[in-house]
Amino acid sequence: MSKNFNSKIKSSEITDKQLYLNRRKFMKKFGSLIGWMFLGSHIKGVAEAAALKIVKKYDYTSNDKPTNIQNVTHYNNFYEFSTEKEDVADLSKDFTTNNWNISVEGLVNKPKVYGMEDLLKLFPLEERIYRHRCVEGWSMVVPWIGFPLSNLLKLSLPQGSAKFVEFTTVYRPDQMPGQKRSVLNWPYVEGLRIDEAMHPLAILSVGMYGDVLPNQDGAPIRLIVPWKYGFKSIKSIVRIKLVENMPISTWMQAASNEYGFYANVNPQVDHPRWSQKKERRLGEFFKRDTLMFNGYTDLVGHLYTNMDLRKNF
Ligand code: MTE
Repeated sequence: MSKNFNSKIKSSEITDKQLYLNRRKFMKKFGSLIGWMFLGSHIKGVAEAAALKIVKKYDYTSNDKPTNIQNVTHYNNFYEFSTEKEDVADLSKDFTTNNWNISVEGLVNKPKVYGMEDLLKLFPLEERIYRHRCVEGWSMVVPWIGFPLSNLLKLSLPQGSAKFVEFTTVYRPDQMPGQKRSVLNWPYVEGLRIDEAMHPLAILSVGMYGDVLPNQDGAPIRLIVPWKYGFKSIKSIVRIKLVENMPISTWMQAASNEYGFYANVNPQVDHPRWSQKKERRLGEFFKRDTLMFNGYTDLVGHLYTNMDLRKNF
């Protein structure tokens, strides 16, 4: 499958910083670890061709230093493979993502099933360095590659009655050993209010650190909502459905008193079992203060005016 980005973009839109890393260069840079990672990609058939072409770096990119890729790819929450963060990379290495389809359906005038190649042709890819804060108290900074979710939603022509967006992960217990166990209700489901989903910070990511997403980070396509706890950023998505009523996410089904629908990063509202005031960035020793909306208040605060964020946690 080709990862070359289409040529519709005007040269004026391409920044000086544009990157066009081919895998060879990338592997040279990051060494054999990445070699192994992309050997995995080879098997899954996603990365045969050139790496992703990033068209621009977007304004919302953070100035924080990206976390070491080893940490980001070897400390993962992906319960479909394991509840042990250190085991996900290994257990997901044979997961196949070739011929992946995503269906956009529900309350839209243009429902459609998209192949990954369709999406890559339709939407310019951007690199965005985002802070990523897990509800469990660790955080990282990741250079994601993707495009705004709103681009895809707009193309699908949402109907006036569409108030929420529901996302669903692939259900494939033969390749995802965690799905053989009832730790969560499968498949994994998440949701956003439509205005959250249309916010330019919310992206669908297809890559990171200059190349395709490794399996453990949600290949071939996942959501990234940087102002919310990491569990909202659902991985390996196969369905996006516009709906009228608030979806009940997998984590709400598991423990609604602990995991709310909104899940905005909020140091003032503790998790019932622990404080959310501090976080440890992977690779760092000292904890740092957690920021309201993960530091994105100026961009997203207006979405929640007049809402009691203790009730709507
Ligand atoms: N998506 C699916 N399908 N299954 C999961 O278990 N875990 C979530 C989220 N998306 C999860 C998921 C949680 S709790 C976090 S913190 C992030 O993915 C972790 O993403 P990362 O491993 O790329 O850091």
